[in-house]
Amino acid sequence: MESFEYQAGTKVLFGKGQIEHLPEEIGKFGRKVLLCYGGGSIKRNGIYQQIYDLLKDCEIYELAGIAPNPRITSVKEGIALCKEHGIDVVLAVGGGSVIDCAKVVAAGVYYDGDPWKMVSENIQTENALPLVSVLTLAATGSEYDDGAVITNLDTNEKLGYGNPLTMPKVSILDPTYTYTVPAKQTAAGSIDIMSHLLEQYFGPDNTYLADQMLAGAIKTVIRYAPVAVKEPDNAQARGELMWTSSLACNGILSQGCAYGGWCCHAIEHELSAFYDVTHGVGLAIITPRWMRHILNEKSVGRFAQYGRDVCGITGLDDQETAEKAIDETEKFFASLGVPMTLRELGIGEEHFDEMAEHAGRGRLANAYVPLLKEDVKAILHDCL
Ligand code: NZQ
Ligand code: ZN
Repeated sequence: MESFEYQAGTKVLFGKGQIEHLPEEIGKFGRKVLLCYGGGSIKRNGIYQQIYDLLKDCEIYELAGIAPNPRITSVKEGIALCKEHGIDVVLAVGGGSVIDCAKVVAAGVYYDGDPWKMVSENIQTENALPLVSVLTLAATGSEYDDGAVITNLDTNEKLGYGNPLTMPKVSILDPTYTYTVPAKQTAAGSIDIMSHLLEQYFGPDNTYLADQMLAGAIKTVIRYAPVAVKEPDNAQARGELMWTSSLACNGILSQGCAYGGWCCHAIEHELSAFYDVTHGVGLAIITPRWMRHILNEKSVGRFAQYGRDVCGITGLDDQETAEKAIDETEKFFASLGVPMTLRELGIGEEHFDEMAEHAGRGRLANAYVPLLKEDVKAILHDCL
């Protein structure tokens, strides 16, 4: 088992009505608030008004219109607002895109150079404004980790930024806030959660404990994603998905395991950078193709374990179990109603060369089953 250091400094307030604690939590940091949100879903479902009612004693400034696959332009706008108004605390209300953008704003206030340089070179700041998040979509785990992913449309880049200072100080997780998430987005979010778990499951040297926890979390997604897609206001399904989302991405489930490479995410970020696709949809297309590509003598045992422990396959040898498990994973994604080929998204092979060159910036060569540029290209071709 590998040595590790782990600290999750986020106070989680989970459950219906936890928003009532917002004034006291915000009040710990000050009264000048930058409210960050997306394209308007929080206005339509009433959360926006609820926040204004609760924070009536605060001075609120707004960074609105943060797009899915959040842009560096929004980050710059947010940093300027913080500096102009002397903001005390950043409040992100939305999905992963809003929280990610807010994180980079919170750190960027303490960085004097170009914010895109800070992101692309993963420059650590000495400080960050405190961040409070109110999650409205179960997917990325951004509410409980220190990562953010930002897109630069000018350079066709979508890059991760990690800074422990940007971990939310408080995250309010009210599953009823996700009742209004459309079926397509519920499906994409659930596939993202599942992908985070699979990226950790397929590692070179997992602990027994990690395998048990990851398998349990994957089974939770398989059980409850279809329920949430069909019954958007099913409290049990929304709650299970929300807490699984938070646990899936901050590393707690795979501490002590060797790093597997997060290959599907590296490839998906290229797709989003060039074509602005929904993250979970890209992952649904890539994951089964990646699985088939890396299934070999070295990995077959692990895939067979996945087939038996997660998919419940019995009575077949390792190779057959592995192949069936991959087919079942693909069928599960398709059953949620997402597109399963790049052609359905209108994407051809024009940029595969550049995408394969950039993916993971060379790190995929050290993945569980190493991927070189030609491997990434082959996987992308299989996705057509
Ligand atoms: O913008 P609004 O109007 O709010 O609508 C959003 C958006 O259109 C909508 N939505 C959110 N909550 C809703 C709702 N609609 C109705 N009711 C609600 N309660 O959903 C749409 C998608 O939102 P977005 O925030 O983009 O989705 P998601 O949470 O999946 O975030 C995706 C982004 O996170 C990054 C992805 O790459 C992508 O950029 N990731 C961040 C990670 C992290 N920080 O650790 C890890 C992930 O692997 C991922 O890469
Ligand atoms: Zn993801």
